[in-house]
Amino acid sequence: NRELKSGQFIGSVDCGTTSTRFIIFDKRAKIIAEHQTEFEQILPHAGWHEHDPEALVDAMVECINKAVEKLEWMGWSRKSIKGIGITNQRETTVCWSRTTGKPLCNAIVWDDSRTLGVVREYEKKLEEEGLDIDEEEEDLKGVPKDVEIGTGGEEAAFGEKGDVVEESEEAEGLGGKVNQKLENLGLAEKGSAKQLNGDSNVHKKRKGKEGIVDVTGIPLSTYFSAIKLRWMLDHQRQVHEAHEKDDLMFGTVDTWLVYALTGRQNGGLHIMDVTNASRTLLISLKTLQWHPPLLRFFGIRPSVLPKIVSSSEIYGTISESVGTPLTTVPIAGIVGDQQAALVGNKCLKKGEAKCTYGTGAFVLFNTGEECVRSDYGLISTVAFQAGPDAKPVYALEGSIAVAGSAIKWLRDQMNLIEESSDMDILAGSVSDTGGVYFVTAFSGLLAPYWDREASGTIIGLTSYTTSAHIARATLEAVCYQSRAVLDVIEKESNTKLETLKVDGGVTNSDLAMQLQANIGGFNVARPAMRESTALGSALLAANALKLFGWDLSKPETLADVNTAGVHIFEPELEEKERVRAVRGWNRAVDRARKW
Ligand code: G3P
Repeated sequence: NRELKSGQFIGSVDCGTTSTRFIIFDKRAKIIAEHQTEFEQILPHAGWHEHDPEALVDAMVECINKAVEKLEWMGWSRKSIKGIGITNQRETTVCWSRTTGKPLCNAIVWDDSRTLGVVREYEKKLEEEGLDIDEEEEDLKGVPKDVEIGTGGEEAAFGEKGDVVEESEEAEGLGGKVNQKLENLGLAEKGSAKQLNGDSNVHKKRKGKEGIVDVTGIPLSTYFSAIKLRWMLDHQRQVHEAHEKDDLMFGTVDTWLVYALTGRQNGGLHIMDVTNASRTLLISLKTLQWHPPLLRFFGIRPSVLPKIVSSSEIYGTISESVGTPLTTVPIAGIVGDQQAALVGNKCLKKGEAKCTYGTGAFVLFNTGEECVRSDYGLISTVAFQAGPDAKPVYALEGSIAVAGSAIKWLRDQMNLIEESSDMDILAGSVSDTGGVYFVTAFSGLLAPYWDREASGTIIGLTSYTTSAHIARATLEAVCYQSRAVLDVIEKESNTKLETLKVDGGVTNSDLAMQLQANIGGFNVARPAMRESTALGSALLAANALKLFGWDLSKPETLADVNTAGVHIFEPELEEKERVRAVRGWNRAVDRARKW
């Protein structure tokens, strides 16, 4: 019954791929209280990865409750929390019923690759029918909910077929074209461009029509939400029926958590922030709205879609029904986790880059108000929109599907280590990998290679090889891939990267960060407080609430935010050795391709 102090704090729900946390920050981004909990990873078949949407809600509620309990135990009143932000694993797709507010099936997680068949089907459709974007490029405001969309794309509502542009470069498709350019940059083995010709992420351009990448900034890939939603519509009876009956609600994890937090059927909001929406394959990066030709192309009814909102505004408040101590607290920031980390690392200006090493690793490079199209296999994405009237900021992104998950694989499937933290001891017990390379292509390779048929490959084994060499090669794998992405970014931006800002679980490994500096040939800056993802959504929420004077349009207002020590890892490898190592990696990638 002691008197609790009243302060001013901001909270952040961070729902990642393997765990959720709720972190309470003060005005300097010092962590006041936090709680983290893991949730179940459902892996029913090879390449399948699911989450129970209710388990995500339960984990969020547990984290909020326990963190607030700790806050009160420290003597602060719960009323000190002035608002919360939400940040989430992106692309993961959730479907639920409008009537019951309950999920219709498990969520399909971003790195699930079961949908390869859907990708192939839609590549073919794209090739045969094209994507007609001429007639209707305006947003979906005013499109009636009962507009006839059809399913599976059998509706031939795409206008006349255009002529295929004959030039060889256009006909090569993204994979071949990008690999030719990677070869030229020395980032791929000679001949890999040819291997991909004609069958990898093909986006043939048609006269008078634009390809999917031109509209969305991202390619047809198992990674993105529309492909997962299409799979659910075709393979999950409940989802199919709900779609037919107009009872279906679709969302990414932010959409689902906000719906649950704001009361489900009792006024629950159905919204998706623009950064998450930019990962669905369903919006135009120009209008930042649902794109009718894409909805027709994928056979998705507009009525299932949430409203697209900015990343920083007061959307609503937490409902009593959720069972947290934060009833009526405003939700004021929503942002995909990689974009959140960009903001949390204060990469707010054009030309600034960060890499987050979580389950996967994601390099984001701020391109300012300009939406840049990559020639080398990076994707264009919305970095954040700091308010409904603010101009969106864009980024180029290089997504690497496997980072921390490879360490988890060594721990759980290979029993090579007992705890993830043992990696440094094992991998550090040898001074190099003894010529071993591990291409961790568990579900193909994303940027900059985009080879969905690449397979996990350990190469260079001899009778001298020990588990320590393999552990070290596992850490090196993500470093080589980040380097490949950053090489491309340097090329496209014409700037030399001096320092890479880093965060995420793998950055706890000093060895991994030293290897990154060695392989990359640049400095790696690791802050003491590495919860940059959670901090990013807290910054966006505080920006909307006008809390602490934080204003994302004025980076100087964040000068005091997260200034506690930064550790710099400097390269310790001769350039000659680095070049030799990278060449070996490229050869290993080549062997892993098209397995
Ligand atoms: O695009 C997937 C990404 O958002 C997952 O992030 O931190 O859970 O690996 P993380």
